[in-house]
Amino acid sequence: MRRDPLAYLTSELDSLKQQGLYRPLRVLEGEQKPTTTFDHRQVVNLSSNNYLGLTTHPRLRERALEATRTLGVGTGSVRTIAGTMAIHVELEQRLAAFKNTEAVVVFQSGFAANAGTVAAILTKDDVVISDELNHASIVDGCRLSRATIKIFPHRDVDAARSVLAALPVAQRKLLITDGVFSMDGDLGALPGLCAVAEEFGCIMMVDDAHASGVFGENGRGTIDHFGLHGRVDIQVGTLSKAIGVLGGYVAGGRALIEFLHHRARPFLFSTSHPPAVAASCIAALDVLEQEPEIIERLWENTRFFKAGLQALGFSTGSSESPITPVIVGEGALAMKLSDALFAKGVFAQGIAFPTVARDKARVRTIVTATHTRDELQFALDVFAAVGRDLGII
Ligand SMILES: Cc1ncc(COP(=O)(O)O)c(C=O)c1O
Repeated sequence: MRRDPLAYLTSELDSLKQQGLYRPLRVLEGEQKPTTTFDHRQVVNLSSNNYLGLTTHPRLRERALEATRTLGVGTGSVRTIAGTMAIHVELEQRLAAFKNTEAVVVFQSGFAANAGTVAAILTKDDVVISDELNHASIVDGCRLSRATIKIFPHRDVDAARSVLAALPVAQRKLLITDGVFSMDGDLGALPGLCAVAEEFGCIMMVDDAHASGVFGENGRGTIDHFGLHGRVDIQVGTLSKAIGVLGGYVAGGRALIEFLHHRARPFLFSTSHPPAVAASCIAALDVLEQEPEIIERLWENTRFFKAGLQALGFSTGSSESPITPVIVGEGALAMKLSDALFAKGVFAQGIAFPTVARDKARVRTIVTATHTRDELQFALDVFAAVGRDLGII
């Protein structure tokens, strides 16, 4: 009999099971909503990035259906051959106006936007200076670029400055940070980093995946929030979180965008979004512009829920956004907490190493604009009961 050359993977999985870190995929049986059904259990859902509830917004749904009826279900090609439809261009123009930049290019995902851009614009002769907690897609882009990678401690502008000061003046360098950090919910040190980038003639890049639709006027992101328009060379956003659909984009100058058309490998070598995706993203921008009160509701819910967790005595780290971690330390305890919450009707995913540091395992909560006060109060009551049972509070 043939020996299974992949047997080592089963051993790895067994080891995860022994450590209490094995996670089967939870299956959502209905729509992505604040109360919904996962694995046959109705739960208050604190695990999606659907900040504004747009995954099920009637205007987006209608535009997706209309685009499917009139334009079909797929594009049949990559963007650079036959897969650029007028609706893709319309979305990019709308995003450029929204982000206040010359141009935008849309990628298939935020991951592809980050990884594809960093890998395209840097070579092995360049240096990238990156916050230690930047998203995996940035890390992978840095590795793919073969540039020298210098990591600075989280949000430490002085440390980033020291790295830059030690590099030759003529060295090409990219300084890169998340706008909102996805596991801790804190903000990148944007004003300080922009100043340092300017001082050392560095390219400045911000991944605003969790900020678009959440921070700034009408959800324009952290660059708008901090008043940094014109000082960030490359802005990445995602269409998969607050926008409620799928995709990522890069906003910046026209030369950057045209260069990415020619050199960003996910853009060149992967088929473009179906028309329904582009159409519903355009509808999402209409909603951000015409119904900004949903962003205010998101923040009201955020303040209520965060204050509730803190009043119960949970450790919520340094979050400044709707992402509120409940940090418990050990990975196995985080998974236990998540399972116990789920059994009582609250879905907050457990997160452990390697996604976060070994001693910083947590369950991660995200409220949305569409949670009701009753749903959030119910979730807080369950957190209180389970947290006491497990000796966390
Ligand atoms: C900070 C950050 N950047 C980029 C991404 C990737 O976005 P997408 O889900 O659109 O690929 C994510 C999503 O997990 C993220 O949290």
